[in-house]
Amino acid sequence: MAIIYDKGVRSFHLKTKNTSYIMKIYREEYLAHLYYGKRLEVNDIGLRFEERAHIMNDTPEDRVFSPETMPQEYPAFGAGDLKEPAYRIRDARGNYISDGRYVSHYIYHGKKGLEGLPSTFAGEKDAVDTLEIILEDSLIGLAIVLTYTVFEDYDIITRNTKFMNMGKETIRILKAASVSVDITGHEFELIHLTGSWARECRFNRVPLNTGRIELDSARGVSSSQHNPFFALAGKNATEDYGDVYGFSLVYSGNHLSQIEVDQYEQVRLIMGISPVNFEWKLESGACFQTPECVMAYSSEGIGKMSRLFHRVFRERLCKSKFANSPRPILINSWEACYFDFTQDSLLELARESRKLGIELLVLDDGWFGRRNSADSSLGDWYPNTDKLPEGITGLAERVNEIGMQFGLWFEPEMVSPNSDLFRAHPDWRLHVPGRPGHQSRGQFVLDLSRQDVCDWLVDAVGRILECGKVSYVKWDMNRQLSEVGSAVFPADQQGEIYHRYVLGLYQCMERLTAAFPDVLFEGCEGGGGRFDPGILHYMPQIWASDDTDAIERLSIQYGYSFVYPWSCISSHYSVSPNHQVGRVTSPETRAYAAMTGAFGYELDVCTLSEEEKEEIKNSNRIYREDRELLAKGDFYRLLSPEGHEKAAWMIVSPGKKEAIVYYFRILAHANQPFTWLKLQGIEDTEEYYVKELRRTYTGAELTCIGLPVSNFSKDFQTEVFHLVRRDLGG
Ligand code: DGJ
Repeated sequence: MAIIYDKGVRSFHLKTKNTSYIMKIYREEYLAHLYYGKRLEVNDIGLRFEERAHIMNDTPEDRVFSPETMPQEYPAFGAGDLKEPAYRIRDARGNYISDGRYVSHYIYHGKKGLEGLPSTFAGEKDAVDTLEIILEDSLIGLAIVLTYTVFEDYDIITRNTKFMNMGKETIRILKAASVSVDITGHEFELIHLTGSWARECRFNRVPLNTGRIELDSARGVSSSQHNPFFALAGKNATEDYGDVYGFSLVYSGNHLSQIEVDQYEQVRLIMGISPVNFEWKLESGACFQTPECVMAYSSEGIGKMSRLFHRVFRERLCKSKFANSPRPILINSWEACYFDFTQDSLLELARESRKLGIELLVLDDGWFGRRNSADSSLGDWYPNTDKLPEGITGLAERVNEIGMQFGLWFEPEMVSPNSDLFRAHPDWRLHVPGRPGHQSRGQFVLDLSRQDVCDWLVDAVGRILECGKVSYVKWDMNRQLSEVGSAVFPADQQGEIYHRYVLGLYQCMERLTAAFPDVLFEGCEGGGGRFDPGILHYMPQIWASDDTDAIERLSIQYGYSFVYPWSCISSHYSVSPNHQVGRVTSPETRAYAAMTGAFGYELDVCTLSEEEKEEIKNSNRIYREDRELLAKGDFYRLLSPEGHEKAAWMIVSPGKKEAIVYYFRILAHANQPFTWLKLQGIEDTEEYYVKELRRTYTGAELTCIGLPVSNFSKDFQTEVFHLVRRDLGG
């Protein structure tokens, strides 16, 4: 058992291979947090209290103990601890105060799913155990179930919280964090991923000072502004050194992370659904389930934290059969022709792509209703027979005859004002009666808090997929949420609609991915606006950004790599000069930048020079040879692209038999210094043959001295190295 309840000291010790997480039932049944970090063998750790003026005491006789200076496991609002609470309620008498104390716990092998929400799961033979601790506020009859699952071999602990109204009167939940962790006595920096449309997931590292930092989305989606992830890293932590705590929320809607350093320099971390416009009516006997938070602690630097997330997300989060396997090389029609295509032009694109070794043609936006630009027809999911006289089935059959698989784009959550769907069901959109509502990209959002709308969506998409010829679906979403109200819910439940929308979305994704398990689904929100573990539960890859420039993508993909496995970061080779930034880059650089993700193309290959076509054929040959390793290998960041100088990363096979190193020279300098790239993740004591250099090095040489890389005198150049262990045929 990875979870020990020590009756003597009344503590809970959660142990992974390298991590300990310890809590204790303390004094008047408080649940105190004792420790999270490197694995310990003791079950109890002393708490420190001192008499201080101006803090809360439970009794006037004892001025030393205070719930405010005690690290709390799930702090309440308004009762003795005046810092940021993990939850807040309003009871039937209009009070906001709550106080949850320990009443019982339950430990079992395995892991339960979360009702209506995506979450990690245990494999059949996994060493996975779960602890449920019940706190109770007996005055109002509120039970709070804190659930911890320990993935022993993955070095991962997951948490979620459930609220149960055991009383007779209705309670309103105003804030319900998934997780709260109090950490004492450390100096940290905060790592988080920030950005915007087409500039997603920029890495940011900032010092912590007394006060509170909040990272959030109130946009209805997890957002490209703040990914639902953060890490606390020791001030001296690097890629391969130091303490790092990572938190990732399995949720695709509004979220909030709060990082508070209090007056005594204790750190409180809170993560969960954003309380903005959130008010959940919890009637007598009802439950409310929060999303799951995945926690990874590494004592060996930031790189290891990332690899812990990568492995658990690939193997124990994503349900798709493609999650842990190589993906087909695809070509997407968007930047090839946007809305301007016919069946014949698509078949020509397919024929030329096939000759170059591309395996799947994806028809992006513009195939349905009367859609020839972004201002109509969303919701009318039937083929535009002016463009596609044989419909989707006929087109897919022709593409299959050419020897390629066929994929299709949908934007199922949206409705255009100019659509048959909107004319028939104007109240099916999210809206507030009397307010016109804001359009974005000329469209409204369907109200997925309604069951009838969810049923319609599943049927509309399912009807097309039933032809059995569609092997891939890109599930897009091109606007964020505003005027979030629903026609079917009463006034006192309008505060539930943001979350109910996400629950409806998950229900649709669950039903469609379960009904079509052989279809490879890709998520998208105008690029990476909903790139989160919630979507990854259903879809093994997500379109990372609408910026397809190879150099821009280095920073974007570098950012994603802090949490997300390489294999889920969808990335395409596009035309040069690039459509978003006009940059000119070589075919080689574009190919290798895109290969560091789920690889594909996004340009009209029919118009390319013979020379570029040869380059593409060669890249596809290399990718086919490498893709098994790219899908399953361990990822190491070597150089950050953030200074616009260089970037480098590598992927190492399980068992360290092979590795591929990608080096990008971003901006070159005249007469620049030599570069030795210090590798990671390989065996020091083994010899590795480096194919491109035709030389053998010991692992120690490569990690301590480094691999000599070219001193390119031009901007935007790339070099790739394949390493094979000598004793294994290298
Ligand atoms: C936004 C996506 O990110 C693009 O790749 C493309 O699918 C367009 N939407 C189509 O409208």
